[in-house]
Amino acid sequence: MTAYSRGKTMKAIVTLENGQFTLKDVPIPQASAGEILVKITASAQNPVDWKTALLHKKPNNILGCDFAGTVVELGPEVPDTLRHVGERVAGCVQGGIAPNGAFAEYVVMQAALAIALPDSVSFEDGAQLGVACFTACLALYDCLKLPTPDHPVEESSSVLIWSGTSATGQYAVQFAKLSGMRVIATASPKHFELVKALGADEVYDYANSQTPRKIFASTRGSLRHAMDCFSQDRTPNQVSTSLSKEGGTIATLLPYVSRSKGVQTHLVLAYTILGKELTFPFAYPAVEEHRQSAMEYAKLISALLAKGKLKPVPVKVFPNGLQSVHDGFEYMGAGKVHAEKITYRISDTPGID
Ligand SMILES: NC(=O)c1ccc[n+]([C@@H]2O[C@H](COP(=O)([O-])OP(=O)(O)OC[C@H]3O[C@@H](n4cnc5c(N)ncnc54)[C@H](OP(=O)(O)O)[C@@H]3O)[C@@H](O)[C@H]2O)c1
Repeated sequence: MTAYSRGKTMKAIVTLENGQFTLKDVPIPQASAGEILVKITASAQNPVDWKTALLHKKPNNILGCDFAGTVVELGPEVPDTLRHVGERVAGCVQGGIAPNGAFAEYVVMQAALAIALPDSVSFEDGAQLGVACFTACLALYDCLKLPTPDHPVEESSSVLIWSGTSATGQYAVQFAKLSGMRVIATASPKHFELVKALGADEVYDYANSQTPRKIFASTRGSLRHAMDCFSQDRTPNQVSTSLSKEGGTIATLLPYVSRSKGVQTHLVLAYTILGKELTFPFAYPAVEEHRQSAMEYAKLISALLAKGKLKPVPVKVFPNGLQSVHDGFEYMGAGKVHAEKITYRISDTPGID
């Protein structure tokens, strides 16, 4: 069992008010009603982590959203039929806006949103599941209303996953395939085989100006559903023009409006699974339905992992644990992330056993 005694401090990556951050000792957060305390073994990095540090600029918050570790304490009102001390779990929180985040030795999270991690999945692989899997599920099932893997389609229809190599895209391709969809994806040519191995039926080069026309032709102008996992630069136009002339729906990961007639865009925000009103990165009301959906997604993801049906994004472990977060932000900010997930092993941090 993990050694843990209340009242101790922990090391964490804590924000400063100038958009910078530092590794320092802070109090271990406390599990409130319905929450669990998790001792983190590995944390994974998302683009939102460096964006939050840079834009939020409020001090004393802990950065990092994604983690995997071991349950060390159940808060009030958490039945031991739901979670147990010693359980291996993965999950996500909204990092950088409160003194609770994934770039730390401990984190508190909602017990019902934890993903049960089977022994066959390492903590390093499990750390990346939270944001990417919940975002993919919200986009495909809550937003686009596609069938879930529990009730796959009988007659296959198509969905476009733009940026199938991104972390979110890699899981979206897998979930859509498990739902029985015909999956069309985009990637750079060096990653075509990787995206096909995840289940994509067709993969096109996102940088080729002919790609929307080819997707339109391949689907005979019938494509109605897309998830844009890049959602910036040229993709609003590229994704919109891949769709049917009669229109369709795009789940976007950054906000934009399509200029194509009949094309609706819906912003998907992973944090809405928390069922709380958001003030950052956008003001957004609490969406209790998303929290309810996420509880089902946590069970679905756990079941798929236990059956070996979800492939992790290749992990890139930075060498010095939390001490490497500066380097990880620089690497990601410079656009060097390609089909990989920056991951930190907490015990690699100098000063942490
Ligand atoms: N709204 C939300 O809740 C939410 C949740 C998760 C992520 N996001 C946002 O979604 C975006 C993706 O996040 P992520 O973590 O999934 O990404 P990521 O893993 O960091 O994405 C890296 C990949 O992007 C691909 N890429 C680069 N330029 C592209 C382009 N022009 N078109 C298509 N793909 C391109 C590259 O593919 P190749 O290697 O094949 O070149 C690369 O592998 C970020 O902006 C993030 O902030 C939002």
